[in-house]
Amino acid sequence: MNFTSAKVLSNIEISDGVYRLILMGQFQGKPGQFYMLRAWEEEPILSRPISIENVDDKSITFLYQVVGKGTKILSKLKAKGELNIQGPLGNTFPVEQLSGKVGIITGGIGIAPMELVVKSLKVDSIDFHCGFRNKSYLINEIMEHVTKVYISTETGSEGYKGYVTDLFKPENYDVVLCCGPEVMMNKVIKMCKDKNVTSYVSMEKHMACGVGACLVCTCKTIDGNKRTCKDGPIFLGSEVMIDA
Ligand SMILES: Cc1cc2nc3c(=O)[nH]c(=O)nc-3n(C[C@H](O)[C@H](O)[C@H](O)COP(=O)(O)OP(=O)(O)OC[C@H]3O[C@@H](n4cnc5c(N)ncnc54)[C@H](O)[C@@H]3O)c2cc1C
Ligand code: FES
Repeated sequence: MNFTSAKVLSNIEISDGVYRLILMGQFQGKPGQFYMLRAWEEEPILSRPISIENVDDKSITFLYQVVGKGTKILSKLKAKGELNIQGPLGNTFPVEQLSGKVGIITGGIGIAPMELVVKSLKVDSIDFHCGFRNKSYLINEIMEHVTKVYISTETGSEGYKGYVTDLFKPENYDVVLCCGPEVMMNKVIKMCKDKNVTSYVSMEKHMACGVGACLVCTCKTIDGNKRTCKDGPIFLGSEVMIDA
């Protein structure tokens, strides 16, 4: 799959260091998939994987946090500017196969792919648990599609003070979906295993090619090493090998 050029409709900071990038045009994408983004020529060498926040027949939206060189360059994009994108890549959360009570748990920018997820789910209920360092974002967009929202912040400035996993009871759900920092996802996988609840996690690994060719993004599973970009990024929690 080749890179194509895309035009920026807007690129706005919606919270501290968190930007919403909207590109004009007709793009494809399903819940949990991502695109490789590139708004530079030579440096950094690699393109950067960013999940689809939203997609419709006129535009595609990404939500990203500035953490280093690549995302810093993305944050400088202006309306009518251009960048190169490749996608949609990876597998999806199995939204069409899910039923009953769904628990979603996210940490920080791991909330980004969940807007499309909650819009796509047709289930009995969705409890949404999201943890942030200091300030929440994306809650309004999520709220209208879910049953209940639980917010935590590490500073206590909003919602429960502490980690979002403190608020989370996997035994209340038929299935759990999770995206966030690896340490949080490992904890959620373990909590779900202990209560015999099926979980799906979106793994965050460094990527180079994004299309399954270089093996940079290896994820250890009970069936051997898998490529996060091609076999994932969504894996069953029960198949992922974590350091207990
Ligand atoms: C499938 C997938 C989907 C993603 N979706 C989003 C998204 O929707 N929004 C978003 O903000 N970010 C997302 N990320 C993470 C994003 O790709 C990285 O933050 C980005 O590549 C960092 O690039 P950089 O050049 O700004 O930072 P770098 O200079 O490359 O790195 C800065 C810091 O971030 C760490 N880092 C870099 N890449 C990753 C990574 N993949 N996972 C964990 N830590 C990393 C580095 O170790 C370093 O400490 C996703 C990652 C994957 C694998
Ligand atoms: S990034 Fe190259 S195989 Fe996944």
